[in-house]
Amino acid sequence: MATLRLGDTAPDFTAVTSEGTLNFYEYLGDSWGILFSHPADFTPVCTTELGTAAKFKDEFEKRNVKMMALSVDGAASHAEWIKDINETQNTEVNFPIVADVERKVSDLYDMIHPNADSTLTVRSVFIIDPDKKIKLTLTYPASTGRNFYELLRVIDSLQLTANHKVATPANWKNGEKVVVSPAIPTEEAKGIFTKGVEEIKPYLRLTPDPTA
Ligand code: BEZ
Repeated sequence: MATLRLGDTAPDFTAVTSEGTLNFYEYLGDSWGILFSHPADFTPVCTTELGTAAKFKDEFEKRNVKMMALSVDGAASHAEWIKDINETQNTEVNFPIVADVERKVSDLYDMIHPNADSTLTVRSVFIIDPDKKIKLTLTYPASTGRNFYELLRVIDSLQLTANHKVATPANWKNGEKVVVSPAIPTEEAKGIFTKGVEEIKPYLRLTPDPTA
C-alpha cells in the first residue's frame, strides 16, 4: 500500500456499509466526495463527529459533496451505534459508514498508522473531486475531533480555485477577498477580474470573490 498524495486517483472499492454493499465510484457518481475514517464505534469523540457530519449534510449537498464514513467495526455494530448517535446528537445519520472489518479500505487508503494504534483507523479525511482525484488529505489523532466548518471551508476553496485563477488566503471564508494566481501578471489580472485588483506587492494581489 502506497501513501496517497494530492492529485492521485482515489482508489475505488466495493464494501459493506451501514446502507448495504456499495461501490465507492458508483456512490459518488459525478459528485465531489468526502471519505473519512474514525477509530471505533461507541466512542465519545466519534459519536459527536458522526452526529455533526449528519447535521452538516445539507451544507455538503449544497456543494455537491457526498459523504462516506468508515471504521473497522462491523455492520451490526454500526447499526446499533447509529441509534445512539441519533439519540444523543439529536440527528439522523444520513450517509453510509463502511464496515471495514477486514481493513481492506483502511489499507487501501493507509488509514491505520501502526505507530499511533496498530489496529484502529486514525481520523483520516480524503476530499475527492468529480474526476476522482484526491484534492485534500487530513490526518487527526483519535483524541481530536475534526472541525466540520473547516471541511466546508476547504471545499469552498477547492471549488472556487478549480474554476477561477485565484487562491484563498489564510483563514479565508466564502465571500471574502481572494488572491490572484501568481502566474497572472497584474495588468492581465485587471482584465480578468473586473471587480478590481488591489496590488499590495507585485506577487500579492487581492480581488473580490469572482463568484460573489
Ligand atoms: C473517541 O472517539 O472518543 C475516541 C476513540 C478512540 C480513542 C480515543 C477517543
